[in-house]
Amino acid sequence: MNIKLFGKTKNDDAVLLFELHNKNGMRVGVMNYGATVVKIMVPDKNGKIQDIALGYDYFDDYLNDPVYFGCIVGRYGNRIAKGRFSLNGKEYKLATNNGENHLHGGKEGFNKKLWEVIESESVIIESITFAYNSPDGEEGYPGNMRLEVTYIVTEDNELRIDYRATTDKLTVLNPTNHTYFNLTGSFDKSVLNHKLQMDAGKFTPTDAGSIPTGEIADVAGTPMDFQKEKALGEDIKKDFDQLKYADGYDHNFVFNNFDGQIKKRATLSDPDSGRVMEMFTDQPGVQLYTGNFLEGTKNGKGEITYKKHTGVCLETQHFPDSPNKENFPSVILKPDEEYRQTTIYKFSVK
Ligand code: GLA
Repeated sequence: MNIKLFGKTKNDDAVLLFELHNKNGMRVGVMNYGATVVKIMVPDKNGKIQDIALGYDYFDDYLNDPVYFGCIVGRYGNRIAKGRFSLNGKEYKLATNNGENHLHGGKEGFNKKLWEVIESESVIIESITFAYNSPDGEEGYPGNMRLEVTYIVTEDNELRIDYRATTDKLTVLNPTNHTYFNLTGSFDKSVLNHKLQMDAGKFTPTDAGSIPTGEIADVAGTPMDFQKEKALGEDIKKDFDQLKYADGYDHNFVFNNFDGQIKKRATLSDPDSGRVMEMFTDQPGVQLYTGNFLEGTKNGKGEITYKKHTGVCLETQHFPDSPNKENFPSVILKPDEEYRQTTIYKFSVK
């Protein structure tokens, strides 16, 4: 593992970039600010190693980043309607930062925090753990909650992300990683030619403000159907309200036969570079987000200004607005429980 100084926070604290390696030449850069994935270097079909994760070359651009490049989102990935929910009969009011709604943990989510670094001694696998203690009442959430996130690079070219959390009061939690992938290896190309297959027969339709209506709808016969491999761009312009609301895909897909076990749930591939990314998770859903709001994001890697659809996110998660939807799987964390999540992105070529 290489460690270097990447920058300084506004409080003058050191931000470190940790580079995890494996023997095949795969390298993943992660930093303690936002527990963020800064780069993912993986080979294409000719063995050329390139970065496939959107982000910035210079740390200072992460301080003002509005699009959540590579970070851990928390406490709650995606939206909670009107920033309100009740737990045990008590109403909680969260920060609202997306119109009238709460998005990605509020005004200053976990992506804008400096995390504690817990280095591991192992010489067999390269890993690093980041921890963040979120105080009771932060952004309106109850309970002192501690989240630990471990990034591991394996010899099978996997980036494995393990999450663990505890709380001292009943709370809600739904962390995710917000990496934008572009498997081409050049950030001047769009991801709309990438092919995606997902083990998701259903999705959660939203209103125009991207809040789920509560319905769990079939994807069959709609542009939301990725059960068979399909290019991201194939149906994205179809005359379909859901796609119009979000100006592309920005939806929670519901995996088949959810039982909390780690399963292969999605495969993303780029026909030109030959890169393939398989996604395994124990979560019930994933937010497929086709970078619809990226247009004009400046200071990208190699001085690029990112455009709409330069990257695609596959954010493993519980469903948006679950605290207000009784029919969605629970996101409640109790003081005597431990939250756990594992998500694996596995890279290969074809
Ligand atoms: C998620 C949301 C999007 C957007 C992006 C970040 O995917 O659902 O609406 O906020 O994050 O820009």
